[in-house]
Order: sequence, then C-alpha cells, then structure tokens
Amino acid sequence: MIPKIRNQFPIFQKRGLKPLAYLDNAATTQKPATVIEAMDKFYRSQNAPVHRGVYALAEGATAAYEKVRDQVKEFVNAKHREEIIFTSGATESINVVVAGLSEAFLKRGDRILLSDMEHHAMIVPWQAAARLQVSTIDRSTARKKLKLDFVPLNSEGRIDIGAFKKLLAKHKPKFVGVTHVSNVLGTENPVREMISLAHKAGALVLVDAAQSIAHGAVDVQALGCDFLAFSGHKMYGPTGIGVLYGKKELLEKLPPHKFGGHMIAEVTRTKTTYAPLPEKFEGGTPPVAEVIGLGAAISFLQSIGLNNIAKYEGSLTAYALRALKNVPGLALLGPATTKARAPIFSFTIKGIHAHDIATLLDREGIAVRAGHHCAQILHESLSLDASVRASLCIYNTAEEVDRLVSALVTIQRKFQ
Ligand SMILES: Cc1ncc(COP(=O)(O)O)c(C=O)c1O
Repeated sequence: MIPKIRNQFPIFQKRGLKPLAYLDNAATTQKPATVIEAMDKFYRSQNAPVHRGVYALAEGATAAYEKVRDQVKEFVNAKHREEIIFTSGATESINVVVAGLSEAFLKRGDRILLSDMEHHAMIVPWQAAARLQVSTIDRSTARKKLKLDFVPLNSEGRIDIGAFKKLLAKHKPKFVGVTHVSNVLGTENPVREMISLAHKAGALVLVDAAQSIAHGAVDVQALGCDFLAFSGHKMYGPTGIGVLYGKKELLEKLPPHKFGGHMIAEVTRTKTTYAPLPEKFEGGTPPVAEVIGLGAAISFLQSIGLNNIAKYEGSLTAYALRALKNVPGLALLGPATTKARAPIFSFTIKGIHAHDIATLLDREGIAVRAGHHCAQILHESLSLDASVRASLCIYNTAEEVDRLVSALVTIQRKFQ
C-alpha cells in the first residue's frame, strides 16, 4: 500500500544518490499529484472570481469553491455548511476566535486556560489580546487584562488532567484552548474529556487540530468543541488555506475580523451591515485555487481512509519508538509508548546541539526540524532551548526510520 501512496508524490520521484527521507511533516507535508493537478487545472481552465460573476466561468468557479465547503463539512462532520470558514491557516483561524471573543464576549479579569504544550499560534494571540486591548469607552482604566493560565504536563509529556480540573474549578476560565496533538511531543490529548469538563465549568473550547487532522478521523460533533482550527498544508494540501469550524450560534455572535468586500450585506456612508455566515468571515477575494487544492487533499486522505492512516502510522510509531532506543545518549521528549501518540519524535542527544544534528542529517538526505518548533514554553518547561524533531506521515517507511537511526548513531560516534 505505501509504495503506491508514495508514488503519488512527485517530489519523491527525483532520483539522486541519496533519496529524500522527508521527516518534517509536522511543519508541512508534501503534495500528491492530484492536489497539484487540481490547482493547475483550475488556473488553466476554470479561473474566475467567486460569488460575483453572472457568467458561466464565474458560476463554475463558485460552485467548485462551495463544493469544497460541503466536503470539509462532511470531513469534520459539522452540522451546518456555514460553520465552515475558509481562512489562511490554523494561525488565522485561532486569531479570528481570539479577536472576536476578546472584543465581544470577554470582560476585564476573565481567565483563559491554555496548556504548556500549546503552539505559539494559540499562545501569542491571547497574550496580544490580553494586554493590548483598550476599550474606547475609558482608555485609562479599561485595559481588558485577561489573565492566562497554563495547565502543566506530567513527566510522560501528557496534560495533567488533575491539574486541569483544579484550574477549571479555581479560575472558572471563560475559554480553554488546547491542541489535539502536540507538535513537539506527539501526545494526543483526551480532548473529548477535556471539552466536557471545560463546558461544565462554563468555558468555550477551541481545539487546535493542526497536527491531528491528517492522522485520524476528527468529528467536531462527537468532540463537542465550540471551535476547531487546522491548516491545509499539513494535510497534503496547499499553503495559504485553512479552516475555522465554529458552532453556528457562536459564529453568528462573533464579530468579523477582516473588513472589506464580500463580507458585507449593505454599505452606506454611515454604516455597514455584515453578510450572513460564512461570508461574514471571508472578507476580500478568497484563495480559490487553494480551496480547490484543499478539496483534492481531502479526497486524497479519504481515498486511503483515515482509519487506515491511523493504523499504519500507529505501527510506524511503534517501530520508531523501538528503533530510536538504539541511539546512545538519545533522550526522547514525550510518551515512550504508542498509546494516544502520533508519529512525532522530538529528541536531544547528549553533547550535540540540535542544529548540528539536523545539518548532518541533511547531508544524508534526511530532512528534520531543529529548534523550539514554535513551542518555547514547552521547551522552557523541559529546560531545553532546542530539540530535533522527526515527524512522520503516511508516505514514510520503516526503512526511512532505519536510515535516521543509523545516521544518528554515526553522528553520535563522531561527537564522542
Ligand atoms: C499545533 C499547531 N498549531 C498551529 C500551527 C500553526 O499552523 P499554520 O502555521 O499553518 O497556521 C502549527 C504549525 O506548526 C501547529 O503545529
């Protein structure tokens, strides 16, 4: 099955001395030919503005664009198609929610609960909203001053659910933001349980699904989340496109964040009324080709089957966890077992800087990430400034894991 899947990716067809072992999939995945061709076909024969033209070409482009909204709705099992908002990526999706909630829902002193394993995309918008928002009514005193709290992790690299419950009870946060899967530790969080606990405590919940969406079925109704965010480029689709899912009744109340054409109902010299969902959140000319590419990426995932993907990646995770034990001095961050764990392996090797490891691996044709992976708080809590991250997905193989391990053993020997 895997060679057949791999053959669908033009980037792996290049024949060099050292074939590419692409292990940076948590940053961005490679693109199958169907995604590239769908976007190419759109520009060659279907390109037109959406929602505006009355001519056939524009109507065709609009139909293709809106068809992908239906596809995403089915893909995440949303109740209504207008609960699916196209954004530029997970970062923008989270920013829409943070800006809207802090403007219209939250009051000075309200608490926001995040976790120590959140990506900067979840933390930084809240920090900006918490400190910078100044009410126009009373500039001197009305800084919103939202307070951010962070749930700690246990020694295995999982969210400490006991601490989460205590923080919910103590602070009664208005909002909980949690990643479905950690982009550093690979930990899959028990988001369903966390959402239910947060709702009982009166909080709205946003699930950051950037690292889970391509690795198993995500069902927003089964999860019960209020909002969910993900990016196209981490699920075999193009860059520049992402999704914000939100419950209809909440999105209807949330103010828009991007003002201009397309998101309006009526504009007069004195005031503007906004378009209904989903247009209210899609101001300006949307990235139509990228949306078409996202649709092709979903079809690609569905052609394999999300459950088959989860099963194969689970076996690859088990293999990698065993194999990495053969590297002397390697310390794995995150769970050492396959339970609720994605194929993301961040690690350090005693005495060797992460950037040196990544540079030397590159000479062997192995692409990994080195640094803090946009999770500085997590690295600080582990007393690290950097780690190496190998992140795998459906086209990776046990053979590539062996190449990684053997290269790491050689590097480790060199530095001894
Ligand atoms: C967990 C997580 N959340 C959010 C993001 C932000 O995604 P994007 O840069 O595509 O907006 C990333 C990207 O690395 C991520 O790993």
